[in-house]
Amino acid sequence: MSVVQEELSLKDRVLQLKKEKNAVILAHYYQEPEIQEVADFIGDSLELAKKAAATTADIIVFAGVHFMAETAKILNPTKKVLLPDLKAGCSLAESCPPEAFQKLKDQYPDHVVVTYINCSAEIKAMSDLVCTSSNAEKIINSIPADRKIIFAPDKNLGKYLIDVTGREMLLWDGACIVHEAFSLDKLIDLSIEYPKAKIIAHPESESHILQVANYIGSTSGMLNYVKTSDYDTFIVATEAGILHQMQLDVPHKTLIPAPAKEDNSCACSECAFMKMNTLKKLYDCLEKEGPEIRLEEELIEKALVPIKRMLEV
Ligand code: 13P
Ligand code: SF4
Repeated sequence: MSVVQEELSLKDRVLQLKKEKNAVILAHYYQEPEIQEVADFIGDSLELAKKAAATTADIIVFAGVHFMAETAKILNPTKKVLLPDLKAGCSLAESCPPEAFQKLKDQYPDHVVVTYINCSAEIKAMSDLVCTSSNAEKIINSIPADRKIIFAPDKNLGKYLIDVTGREMLLWDGACIVHEAFSLDKLIDLSIEYPKAKIIAHPESESHILQVANYIGSTSGMLNYVKTSDYDTFIVATEAGILHQMQLDVPHKTLIPAPAKEDNSCACSECAFMKMNTLKKLYDCLEKEGPEIRLEEELIEKALVPIKRMLEV
């Protein structure tokens, strides 16, 4: 069997198994193209959480990272939520351990705690509100002006929110390794080479990158901007996996990945955690119905509160 046939048959087997088991595959834009191709829905963190909340499937296969699958489990405690590789973590989520975060909370008991969805279930359970990159501004603006705010774990998104909302916030010192890897010097060189290119960036990027961006938004926001813009060339400062869907949406436009500080084979930034999921692992997890996300009932109940508040806002 040729490599192409093997790949095709694996895809077909995933699709068949998914039907037999009444499973739904939810995939993030940073997943490998072959995973995005078998997904029932591809989206940003907010859209995926909403899909997870609304699904009637018996099994949710989450092609993304651990905190995303955990969120799906919190929203569907009675359903089986599978993650093809349990080691698919997130540098941001890992930057905020619950014990240390509790110490900060104890120091500022009068603060409203807002956490970016890229955190563990334990951190969510310690929060008043959860947000994603697409609703963060709205969530911060929903908090009464006289209330003080702790924002965790992403300091870059936090700084951006301070800028756009004008709110004072106490920031946790966490960051995404992928979005902190963009090189400003190389980005400037690239925009000199392509003077008509628009720079679009995810708000997890560092301030100096956001300062030169023409558009800042979530993965879905960036896709929408490129689709609806009159411009033809874009330098894309987020994880390179998004380029697959983006190029499908705008086949006639030129998309250039923002360059990373370190030289690598693709001259772009990839999230090693997201890329831990493969089509083969996805097939195996559907077949074996594992690895499964398991959380204590009490943790689910506590973590659900700020997620529900976010979905209501
Ligand atoms: P989005 O919610 O914008 O898709 O971001 C998720 C993420 O992990 C970005 O690194
Ligand atoms: Fe986490 Fe960054 Fe990977 Fe997103 S790109 S999952 S924030 S490590």
